[in-house]
Amino acid sequence: MEKVLITAAAVGLVLGAGAGSALASGPDWGKVPNKKITVFYPGASPIEWITKGTEHGGAKGLKMGEACTECHEEEVADMGKKMVSGQKIEPKPIKGKAPAIPVSVQAAHDGTNLHLRFSWKQPPGGGPKMDADNPVKLAFMLEDNKIERANLSGCWETCHGDARTMPDAKDDKKTKYVIGGDVKAGKFYDLLQWKSGKGAKPADGYVADKRVMEGGKALVDAKGELKGDTWTVTFTRKLAGGEGDITLVPGKTYNFGFAIHDDHTSGRFHHVSLGYTLGIDAKADITAAKQ
Ligand code: HEC
Repeated sequence: MEKVLITAAAVGLVLGAGAGSALASGPDWGKVPNKKITVFYPGASPIEWITKGTEHGGAKGLKMGEACTECHEEEVADMGKKMVSGQKIEPKPIKGKAPAIPVSVQAAHDGTNLHLRFSWKQPPGGGPKMDADNPVKLAFMLEDNKIERANLSGCWETCHGDARTMPDAKDDKKTKYVIGGDVKAGKFYDLLQWKSGKGAKPADGYVADKRVMEGGKALVDAKGELKGDTWTVTFTRKLAGGEGDITLVPGKTYNFGFAIHDDHTSGRFHHVSLGYTLGIDAKADITAAKQ
């Protein structure tokens, strides 16, 4: 009799563990809507170039409150062609590089974690191996409506002409930063990155007065795989977090952008999205609904 009872208890434990791991493995992606966002090759288009207005036709509109997406969303693939070919703002074009990559983005949450899934077809490559260890990297940033203009310009507030790998850079250690960036005041972009290299650890950091690629407490897991010609990368991130993590609250929206370092690239040689919004149970460009 005793034996039977022990068995029943053991079964209970197994069921409990099973339910827990189902949660960690993420939502049923087949039921989560897809948002198509095309990332494009931006060349050297730092925020200084964007806002100065001598070359960028949109500087005035941006100043009046128009978002990058309002003028450009429909044409990002054509924009990418201009920079990737060197026709515009790219002194060092890479032969054979994709002008743009269409990506499917999905988001959901389970009350504890945000789940994000990105998938795209691997474009042709063959450029120099700037990052020999990682054929592909994917990063996304979140911002809590505290940085001026971030609702219009997405990640461009972190992109400056003096950052390393930019044509006018003087310091090859200088990375992304935000003018007036301050973690304590909430003026930062939360930054998470997945890398495809064998054994590479994902990064959980932020961009404030400087870029920090560690120390975040929110990232639970990031994984990716190439199946056939299609990459799928998923992130599991706690809604809550520590210093340098943005706390995500149902009913609210956050500024969101992402970038893919395709074909072994590093630094500025990535494909980037314009600025979008991510809503937690809230209407936005991408809504993470509870599942
Ligand atoms: C009011 C409309 C408007 C806004 C807002 C705007 N742009 Fe532009 N952008 C333009 C125009 C017009 C051009 C010039 C297009 C041309 O030369 O054919 C341009 C050119 C560019 C180019 C060079 C590639 C190209 O197609 O010429 C980049 C890169 C760019 N914009 C990025 C951005 C980013 C990033 C933002 C937001 C931070 C932004 N733009 C906001 C209108 C806008």
